[in-house]
Amino acid sequence: MQLQSSFSFFMPTRVLHGQNIIQDEQSRLGEMGTRCLIVTGASSAKASGAFQDLTSALENLGIRYELFDQVEPNPSLENVAQGGDAARRFEPDFIAAIGGGSPLDAAKAIAVLAVNDIPPQQLYDGHFANTPLPIAAVPTTAGTGSEVTPYSVLTITDQETKKGFGGPDLFPKLAFLDPRYCQSLPFQVSVDTAVDALSHLVEGYLSARANDASDMLAERGMALWGTCLPALQIGEGALDTAVRDRLLVASALGGMTISHTGTAYVHSLGYPLTFYHDIPHGQANGLLLPGFLRHAESVNPDRVAAILRHLDHRSTKSLGDTLASLFPRRVQLSQDELDSYVEKTLPTKNVTHSPGTVTREVLINTLAENFSRP
Ligand SMILES: [Fe+2]
Repeated sequence: MQLQSSFSFFMPTRVLHGQNIIQDEQSRLGEMGTRCLIVTGASSAKASGAFQDLTSALENLGIRYELFDQVEPNPSLENVAQGGDAARRFEPDFIAAIGGGSPLDAAKAIAVLAVNDIPPQQLYDGHFANTPLPIAAVPTTAGTGSEVTPYSVLTITDQETKKGFGGPDLFPKLAFLDPRYCQSLPFQVSVDTAVDALSHLVEGYLSARANDASDMLAERGMALWGTCLPALQIGEGALDTAVRDRLLVASALGGMTISHTGTAYVHSLGYPLTFYHDIPHGQANGLLLPGFLRHAESVNPDRVAAILRHLDHRSTKSLGDTLASLFPRRVQLSQDELDSYVEKTLPTKNVTHSPGTVTREVLINTLAENFSRP
């Protein structure tokens, strides 16, 4: 029998899951220090109830805290530099991040900049003189999985795209998963972020770097996610706490999956759609997944068949139609735009990690599926 290729598995985040989990496990925060910088966006942390639960736990423990609530959607290098300044002034022992992918990813950059007075461009060097501050992450969306990944994706304005950096020290130390914090999310944001989670699971499962451990995470995540798809199709009222709970766990499993496999070309191709057309990240992925699955099917039909089984669909065509139906808004791209986004994507390592040989034509076909002119 042929030996499997070797792999390394590292998942150092303590994942604490359940309703009221911050209250039940607040003593874990006491192990992180006595000064905490809370990093959030403008409103979702408070609207979700997570901010109140966190600050009441910090107060019970006598932990001093300050709030940096200026994380923008798709945070830029300039934005995280502001957070780094705030952190160096306050000198926290740890960071608590509440929100969707933007605050969680910004918090990782701020954790580095808090103890390394470097220009934010140097985040991409990946080597830091001082170990980043530890992070406690509280997701308020079920999508990013950032609470269990070592990655941070930021917008580089002068390069007109988003780009990730990461390193093993950037895994959050704690992740508090409470589905109640997702309950106040607007319906379409819930759909967008849920499809981001699916994209992580699918891209990780089809990655050239997939291994037995990541497969276990991806398969269970897809099975859980598949049970939620009917509710996402029905609409707002169907997203009860039980569904949101399964999506939250599926999202964390997706994060753990891509912590080991990385994402595939769907994510790289989606970044310019977000940067130039303001298409939410998960939505961009969802509209690229049908073409990606079709490409992957020609390379690895067994794996695509397993994905279809988990999502209860008979063909990549019907699954593609279902995903597209979740996103009523459409952006039509010119040929120049298609070409330009493909040029940006081709040199990325996500292309290398994708299944099979990814040519310019594969990427054009993937984009054309939902973004070309009729
Ligand atoms: Fe993503």
